[in-house]
Amino acid sequence: MCGIIAYAGTRASGSILLQGLHDLEYRGYDSAGVGFVSGGALSVYKQAGKVSHLENFLHSEQVDLSAQVGIAHTRWATHGPADNANAHPHRSKRGKLAIVHNGVVENCADLRDWLQTKGYTFSSCTDTEVLVNLIEEIWQKETCIERAVQKALAQVVGHCACVLLSVEHPDRLLVAKRGSPLLMGQTSHGLLIASDASALTAHTDRVYAVGDGHVGLLSAFSPLSLLDAMGRRGFPSVQRIEMAATSTQRGPYAHHMLKEIYEQPEALRRCLQAWKREEGAASSVHHILSRIYEAPRIIMVACGTSRHACLAAAYLWERLCGIPVQVEYASEFATRAPVLRTDDVLIAVSQSGETADTRTAVELAVNQGVWVVGICNVAGSSIDQAVHARLHTWAGTEVSVASTKAFTTQLTVLTALAIEAALRYQRCSTEAYETLQKDLDKLPGLVQQTIDLNEPLVQPVAQALQGVTRCLYVGRGPYAPVALEGALKLKELAYLSAEGYPAGELKHGPLALVDADTFTVVIAPKALEYEKTNVALESIRARGGPVIALITEGDVRMERLANYVLKMPALNPVLAPIVSAVPLQLLAYQAARLRGCDVDRPRNLAKSVTVV
Ligand code: M6R
Repeated sequence: MCGIIAYAGTRASGSILLQGLHDLEYRGYDSAGVGFVSGGALSVYKQAGKVSHLENFLHSEQVDLSAQVGIAHTRWATHGPADNANAHPHRSKRGKLAIVHNGVVENCADLRDWLQTKGYTFSSCTDTEVLVNLIEEIWQKETCIERAVQKALAQVVGHCACVLLSVEHPDRLLVAKRGSPLLMGQTSHGLLIASDASALTAHTDRVYAVGDGHVGLLSAFSPLSLLDAMGRRGFPSVQRIEMAATSTQRGPYAHHMLKEIYEQPEALRRCLQAWKREEGAASSVHHILSRIYEAPRIIMVACGTSRHACLAAAYLWERLCGIPVQVEYASEFATRAPVLRTDDVLIAVSQSGETADTRTAVELAVNQGVWVVGICNVAGSSIDQAVHARLHTWAGTEVSVASTKAFTTQLTVLTALAIEAALRYQRCSTEAYETLQKDLDKLPGLVQQTIDLNEPLVQPVAQALQGVTRCLYVGRGPYAPVALEGALKLKELAYLSAEGYPAGELKHGPLALVDADTFTVVIAPKALEYEKTNVALESIRARGGPVIALITEGDVRMERLANYVLKMPALNPVLAPIVSAVPLQLLAYQAARLRGCDVDRPRNLAKSVTVV
């Protein structure tokens, strides 16, 4: 979704901003722009389409990129189409301010009407143009620009993070944050501000978070002094951003998604090593387990793929440890006034740590006195900062919109927690615990084996899906969420209608869809719920439906029953759901590629969904 990068320093800002825009591209966007202040004037350049398109435009127009202060933005359209007019930056009516903005001004229609009564006209459909004019209007009566911004934000309903240029403060960046994240980084040559650490890590690993409700007029080398919502001045403290050192370049792979699927053994190794570090005595893991032990129930909140990881984990937590777990759509959780108890524990799972629905659910729980654990991939992200205790998945940067290594590492952390809890609650013997630990260590190798096994199998299956009308994905127990995940991958990447169901639900409705044109992917490894899943497979075949079965290597019986097979090695049933996701990722990837889809950037989707 939208991304911000801004610079004030001694170097030409143009190349720094454009590099920052490239670093933000993975979030998903549909237009990009830059703005500079120099020689007492503001200049703004923006283009619908890719950052490279903006670059070509700047080059062809011979735009001077040497200004030492500038702002830039990637926009993901909310108010108005993805065209040049709606792209950021936006200038205020009197031309004194230019703004880049993330978030949504929910009451923008009312504010626009009010500004129109004051003579303002608008050249875009955006809430951002309303915001910059609101600030300018208030600034006419309020001499201090920081206070003017604060007064403007007090009138805004919604989340926003913004950086402004002002002709009256040409060597400074004006920052403001409410809800949406904003980070600052100081380097030897100047100050950088970004909506996400990935645009700063090329310059520094030491960042400062702009606090909620804070506003600041900042120059390159002065202390980062910010005004809080109460009008008090303060200085944020530095945080170290620890990012798993993975390259965001595609290297020899055709797509980021393929690279990220193949990176999973390495990501899991890193995830398990970090788990062992974090799991030492008096660590956050022990603290988390103590809180869980005392809690009457655990609530997990997440969206999309992260929610599927929670659903698969919930099955294990209940089975292995007898802990009641409730998994919620984060978006619904925040919508429906949930009844919470202060002794509940809420676990929020998010790859990006910026998903607005999940962040809102976390805020709601924190405000109601619930103890919240975050499991994020991005350390220092908004959710990571908002929670009481945190664990990280260490998957490394995930660029492709489709989540792959995030899922397997999330489920690994949740499984590792369940194994620890099982020992602590005396639900398993020390020997069983030690076996599980040893098997957990084998996970990266098992995923590698799964990738190798399926390389020759996936292509013909993906080919067979080309003429298909729709697909069903079914599984039982922990494979039901894996079925949801497989279906989500196919639909978001290959734009094929795909539904995931618990296999037992087939006879309650979806079986009516089964015909020669409807392929059903049956997740049926010889690990948990095998015989019952077999019944589902037979019932599909009996109705002439083609079946792609995900089976354990060597399962001749299933192989004979199915039209196509994908395979995984025999393994500990506790770990099987993690591994079973991998062949389905490969299948969705190949199906999308054959259909000529934009694998890494599926239409209408963004990597980091920062609006509710
Ligand atoms: O960053 P998060 O894990 O919070 O993101 C949640 C979903 O938006 C994300 O998993 C989405 O469903 C992916 N596109 C699925 O591949």
